[in-house]
Amino acid sequence: MIFVIKLYFRRRTSAAIPPGPYPWPVIGNFLQVGKNQHVKLAGMARTYGPIMSIRLGSRLVVVGSTASAAAEILKTHDCHLSARHLSYTHPASSPKVNQYAVGFARECNEQWKYMRSICRAGLFSTKAVQSQAKIREANVLNMVRYLHAREGQLVNMSEVVLDVVLNTMTNILFSEDVFGLGLGFGSGRKGSEFKELTRQYLDLLATVNLADLFPIINGWDIQGLQKKVRIINDKIFTMWQKILHQRREQRSQGIIRAQQDFLDSLLEIGLTENHINHLLLELFLAGTDTTATTIVWVFSDLIKNKHAMSKLRDEFATKIGNEAVIRESDVMDLPYLQACIKESLRLHPPIPFLLPHKAIQTCKVMDYTIPKGTQVMINTWAMSRDPSVWADPTRFDPDRFLDSGVDFKGKDFEYIPFGSGRRMCPGLYMAARKVPYVVACLVHEFDWFLPGYEDPSELDMDEVYLLALRKKKPLDLIPRACKKMD
Ligand code: HEM
Repeated sequence: MIFVIKLYFRRRTSAAIPPGPYPWPVIGNFLQVGKNQHVKLAGMARTYGPIMSIRLGSRLVVVGSTASAAAEILKTHDCHLSARHLSYTHPASSPKVNQYAVGFARECNEQWKYMRSICRAGLFSTKAVQSQAKIREANVLNMVRYLHAREGQLVNMSEVVLDVVLNTMTNILFSEDVFGLGLGFGSGRKGSEFKELTRQYLDLLATVNLADLFPIINGWDIQGLQKKVRIINDKIFTMWQKILHQRREQRSQGIIRAQQDFLDSLLEIGLTENHINHLLLELFLAGTDTTATTIVWVFSDLIKNKHAMSKLRDEFATKIGNEAVIRESDVMDLPYLQACIKESLRLHPPIPFLLPHKAIQTCKVMDYTIPKGTQVMINTWAMSRDPSVWADPTRFDPDRFLDSGVDFKGKDFEYIPFGSGRRMCPGLYMAARKVPYVVACLVHEFDWFLPGYEDPSELDMDEVYLLALRKKKPLDLIPRACKKMD
C-alpha cells in the first residue's frame, strides 16, 4: 500500500505528462472510465485535449483521440510506442508463449518480424489471399444454401455470419471444417462449443485483473483468471489436436501433401505443438470476430437505411446483372459497396482503441512526456466521429467516401480502423476481400425483413464494448429469396 501511495505521488509531481482528470488515490480514474470506455474517453478528450493521461490503479495510460495525435503516436514515434501492453490474464504475458506471438508479441523485435513474415507468406500476402478465393466462395455458397432452406423463417444472422467466417478460417488454416459447421450452420456441436469457449475466453480477458492495476500482486492470481484462461485454452487446443498429430505423423513418414496449407508451413519451420496452438488461437481471435462483427454492422446499416440499400442494389443490377450466384471477382470493383463498408467501419470500428500499445522508451509527443512503460491507446471511435473532420458524423452516409480518396490503409490518420504503422493489421487485405463478398451475396440473393415485418428504420443499433465493439442484440432477420437457386 505504501508503495502504491508513493508511486501515486511521485507520478503526480513528474513534469509534463499529458493532462487528464484528477485521479483518486490508489484506484486512479478507474471508476470514471467504467464500461463504455470509447464513449467516456471521447467525452474526456473534449475537456483535456487530443492527448491526455489517465491512471488505472498504478498504471499510467495515455490516450490519443485525434488524427494529429494518432499520426504522432503511430508514425513519428512508432518505433518507441509500438510495443504491446498485455494484461497479466493473457497467456502471452508468459515469455515462453510470447516468443511465438504476433499480435501479442511484447516488442517489435526480430522474432516478431520473423513470425509476421511466416504469416504474411502463408496467409496475408496478395498471392496467399487470392489463392484462398475458392475457399471463401465455397463457404459463402454454403451460407446462401442454408439461408434458402430457411426462407420465411427468423434467422440469427449474427451467428450465421460468425459461422461462415469461422469455417472459412479453419479451411484456410487446416484445410478442414474443424468445428463441424460445414453444412449445418450453427448446428455443429464442436462449432457451438468453440464459439462458447472463445466467448468465455474474451469475457475473462475483458475482466479487470487487479494485478494489471497493481502489478505488485501479480504472481498470486488472486481472481483465478490466469488459471481459468489456461483451462479454456487447453479445451480449445484439443479441438484441433487430432489434425496436428496426424500431420506430424504424415511428415515423420515422409508423406508430403500436394496442397500445403498454413499448418504445414508452421510444422515445416519446426514450431512446437504448444507454439502452434497459441499462434492459431491468436489468429482465430484476431481474424474471425473482427471480420464477422464488421459484416454484421455493414449489413445492419444497410437494413436500417433503405436509401443506401436501394442504391447498392442498383449498383449490383448494373455491374453484376442477374447472375444466380456471384463470385468474389464480381464484387472487386464496386465503388458504392466499398463506400458502404468504409462508412460502417467509420461508425463502428470493431477494435475502437486498436490493440493496446506501450512505450518501450520515454519520448515526447505533442510536447508532453510519455514515460517508458506507459500504456498507449488510440481512440479511433472518437476520431472517426470528430465533427471537425466529418460532416454530420453520426449519420450513415456512404456517399462521403465516394470521391474523397480517404481509405483505411493507414495513411489517412482521421480514419484508421485497421491501425497504422508497424503494428497495423496484417489481415486487412483478407478482410477487404471477405467482408464485401459476404455482404454482396446477402444483399443480392435475398430481400430481408425484421421480425414481425417491423419498419427497418427501427432496427436497434445499440453497441456493446467488450474488447471489441459489437452490436448489442443479435441481428435477427427473415430472408426471402430474390431468385431461385440452381
Ligand atoms: C474487418 C476486420 C478486421 C479489423 C477491423 C481489424 C483491425 C485490427 C486492428 C485495429 C489491429 C491493431 C492494430 C494496432 O494495434 O495498432 C489489428 C491487429 C491484428 N490483426 Fe486485424 N483486423 C481485422 C481482420 C483481421 C484478419 C482477417 C486477420 C487474420 C487472421 C487479422 C489479424 C491481425 C493480427 C495478427 C494483428 C496483430 C498485428 C501485430 O500486432 O503485429 N485481422 N487488427
